[in-house]
Amino acid sequence: MVKRVVLAYSGGLDTSVLVRYLKEKGFEVITYTANVGQREDLSKIPEKAKLSGAVESVVEDLREEFAREYCLPTLRALALYEGKYPLSASLSRPLIAKRLVYWAERFKAKYVAHGSTGKGNDQVRFELSVWALNPDLEVLAPVREWEFKSREEEVEYAKKFKIPVKVTKEKPYSIDENLWGVSIECGPLEDLTKEPPRDTYLITVPPEEAGEGEEVELEFEEGTPVALNGKRYKLLHELVEELNRVGGRNAIGRIDLLEDRLVGIKSREIYESPGAIILYKALEELYHMVLDRFSLDYFLRNVPLEYAKLVYEGLWFSPIREALDKLTGELCKRATGKVKLKLYKGNLKVLSRSSPYSLYEEELATYGEGDSFEHLAGKYFTKVFGLPLKVLGKRRVEG
Ligand code: ARG
Repeated sequence: MVKRVVLAYSGGLDTSVLVRYLKEKGFEVITYTANVGQREDLSKIPEKAKLSGAVESVVEDLREEFAREYCLPTLRALALYEGKYPLSASLSRPLIAKRLVYWAERFKAKYVAHGSTGKGNDQVRFELSVWALNPDLEVLAPVREWEFKSREEEVEYAKKFKIPVKVTKEKPYSIDENLWGVSIECGPLEDLTKEPPRDTYLITVPPEEAGEGEEVELEFEEGTPVALNGKRYKLLHELVEELNRVGGRNAIGRIDLLEDRLVGIKSREIYESPGAIILYKALEELYHMVLDRFSLDYFLRNVPLEYAKLVYEGLWFSPIREALDKLTGELCKRATGKVKLKLYKGNLKVLSRSSPYSLYEEELATYGEGDSFEHLAGKYFTKVFGLPLKVLGKRRVEG
């Protein structure tokens, strides 16, 4: 019986070498490549995969599914890992894993494989996702155990087997890109005392080179972004891609995070997520307008960090993630409205907001004419609310 494996394949050095490596180990290799908005020409992928030794190569455009089923629920949860990272790379792994499982089942393969290393988070996300969907599949991660010690050794191996790899001098960074953001690590970024070099960034300009700023208006329907500057988008990924361009030219969404990996390592990662960061800011503003104080407080204290943690830790296909989606889905029923923002040299400022579900009542809030708040209520409210401290104060005085 032939051993068949579906390999998550980017076309880079590691995964190209992996195709041949697995073939040498007696596997029939089918490569799988997803377009999740990485701004790369994928048309040459099948040819490249086959030259590397694959028998079959699947390429799929998953941008809309990625935007709608993965990025959107994470946005609605306002999930930022360690309060900063919008989880771009973390979110693509469960989707890719889901499609690996699908194709493994179709090709009757007993194995799936990925090119993640043993010290990163992605191995965890791939493996947990695959097992949650099909526990009978075996996951191979040869990079964790193969004998290559350096990039140069891999290049030598590629030469020996005539595997097409770019011989140009590679940037020293490890980069992961999709429509929700770019993550960049390694090389000069490992020195925490230094600012990232200019060439670190791919989709944002430096703040000092951004123009005089721009206003953007976002419209949401039940927590889903539907229009940008008055133009409606049927496809969410197109709205996000446009927002990346607008945000990128205004230096929005640069993040420098010394983050805690699952495997216990602290590592410095640079992110660029202009579109996501703008959407977070706008939706958060809308929540403040349409959610009552109790719901908003509960949500903000319980959901964003918890949701981020479970996405980061590879628990996408877990009942708790689905349950949290139901919770935010319920709150989002009121998140309809418009938010206008000013983007200016890396900064974001809310200019205006409006919603048919707004809970703001000017006649309650005003200090001017037409004030309808019953001021005397304040006297009794303070009395009751402050009672515990008053009792405590009494004890203190009594000594
Ligand atoms: N640290 C991020 C995460 O765990 C990004 C990892 C993506 N990989 C990379 N080579 N930059 O989600």
